[in-house]
Amino acid sequence: MCGIVGYFGLREAAPILVEGLEKLEYRGYDSAGVAILSEEGIEVSKCKGRLANLENRLMENPLEGNIGIGHTRWATHGEPSDVNSHPHSNAKVSVSVVHNGIIENYLRLREWLTSKGYEFLSETDTEVIPNLIDYYYKGNLIEAVMKAVSKMEGSYAIGVVCSKEPDKLVAVRKDSPLIVGLGKDEYFIASDIPAVLNHTRDIYLLEDKEFVVLTKDGVTLLNEMGETINKEVYHVTWNADAAEKGGYEDFMLKEIHEQPKAIKDTLTSRISLDHDIVLDKITITEETLKNIDRIYMVACGTAYHAAVVGKYVIEKLAKIPVEVDIASEFRYRDPLITEKSLIIVVSQSGETADTLAVLRDGKKKGARVIAITNVVGSSASREADDVLYTWAGPEIAVASTKAYVTQLIAMYIIALHFASLKKTLRQDEIYNIKKAMLELSGLAEETLKHKDVLQKFASQTYMEKDMFFLGRGLDYAVSMEGSLKLKEISYIHSEAYAGGELKHGPIALIEKGTVVIATLTQKDLIDKMVSNIKEVVTRGAKVMAITIEGNKDIEKTVDSVIYIPETLDILSPVLSVISLQLISYYMAKQKACDVDKPRNLAKSVTVE
Ligand code: M6R
Repeated sequence: MCGIVGYFGLREAAPILVEGLEKLEYRGYDSAGVAILSEEGIEVSKCKGRLANLENRLMENPLEGNIGIGHTRWATHGEPSDVNSHPHSNAKVSVSVVHNGIIENYLRLREWLTSKGYEFLSETDTEVIPNLIDYYYKGNLIEAVMKAVSKMEGSYAIGVVCSKEPDKLVAVRKDSPLIVGLGKDEYFIASDIPAVLNHTRDIYLLEDKEFVVLTKDGVTLLNEMGETINKEVYHVTWNADAAEKGGYEDFMLKEIHEQPKAIKDTLTSRISLDHDIVLDKITITEETLKNIDRIYMVACGTAYHAAVVGKYVIEKLAKIPVEVDIASEFRYRDPLITEKSLIIVVSQSGETADTLAVLRDGKKKGARVIAITNVVGSSASREADDVLYTWAGPEIAVASTKAYVTQLIAMYIIALHFASLKKTLRQDEIYNIKKAMLELSGLAEETLKHKDVLQKFASQTYMEKDMFFLGRGLDYAVSMEGSLKLKEISYIHSEAYAGGELKHGPIALIEKGTVVIATLTQKDLIDKMVSNIKEVVTRGAKVMAITIEGNKDIEKTVDSVIYIPETLDILSPVLSVISLQLISYYMAKQKACDVDKPRNLAKSVTVE
């Protein structure tokens, strides 16, 4: 969590830092700050609340200088407050630091530094860093940062400025993302690419324990031994506009509407009716697959819900047993990983701490790891044995939408690929699935047209305190995602239940007026679901159904219906989820919630 930026160049640093922070607000937004370095020393401006508060402050008291660091925070250690905001400095304000991550041994370091006469003002773990750097500073900033970092345990991407060396900016990362932007006579650091895209498309993607020093002579990269290293420049091909709202009211709405394109992009070049599936970054062969006895699919949040769909689909098509788990649970439950295990981690950002821990532990235990991720150069993409990129483009809204549908597409691609290697499907069956997949983008466009019913439903129900989502099979998996979306952006409590499970307890909560959103797209389960719907209708529930075109009968049982285009049963989550996303979106808008930046959340959870 948190976003950091840094600027070294000829222009005023503060406005460039603020602009970069705007692009990183998805990583946290409970406070923000900048530190500007000039010949006169370091000046810091920081405050609690959204970035706009910092901007107002900087308007009243502008900070001048061409070198600086900035931070947007998602609080872990210490409540959101002015004093806990970053940058943090030592008492003399000769060293200032912005930090994304957690210093796990900060209490020990703090005690030790206190015994050496250092004083601390905040409750944060970060404050030990400038003090450690100050302690080790003996006339060489890079050496001091290296020494300090060698004492720190945990995760960090840090940017450092020091008044004793007003001609440089130093940064380093471990287990938190950090990129370097290479402009003309100006250089940047940032947690993510969109923060620098208005200025440059040439980027260095830093690896763990790599240091970068920005000076007027350019960018120097060092390894942890202090040796100079070379790196390839990564040229960003996507447009800065992709990270802008493009006329939509919110990023979330824009990203919901980008789903047809995201589906198409994720399929293009991989699935065609004329050739076999092409997965250039997955090198698993028929032989390797024979040696795999179990797949573990591990992820968090929305990505976990995509993995649940993946389990159904891989087991059905490729006949390989799949266990699916939440990363934060999996990593502490001693799973039986062996060299015959295949772990598939799913992560939009590729930086989620728990998911990365599973990836690393799995590799240590000899398992093969595939990463499904949306971010080129993310930790997951670099550390996994094989990668399948979802080409959703930058996802800015905290609530994941287009990343989820492209993760579903990735599941189908992998399932089909394995089925083809294992020959569990005939060629004509594979052909039919591919054909249906290639139609999905157009069907998603169709699905987006049914907004009126959803908007009306939202306007009638947004004041509810609780709701239920029901489904069976893949409709249950997608209901879990619908329920998460509703909770996170509209703050309405909801639960997703498997239709058949309701009568084992939760039905006790159904009373007159309870809102139930039932998804019925799995043809062989529709009758069973209708029975489950009748069970709640009998007890007074108001039911909205999401079902496939042609299932007119459902109108006799429920209060309102939204029809999605017919496709193969296994593919229907791609379409039904769009209606669920829109329901949440309209509910949140009715409640005047900030859909792009829901309270207490951050886009990228880089802490445990
Ligand atoms: O970047 P990741 O896919 O690893 O993130 C996982 C979750 O944090 C993420 O999906 C989260 O649940 C979203 N807020 C859901 O909308």
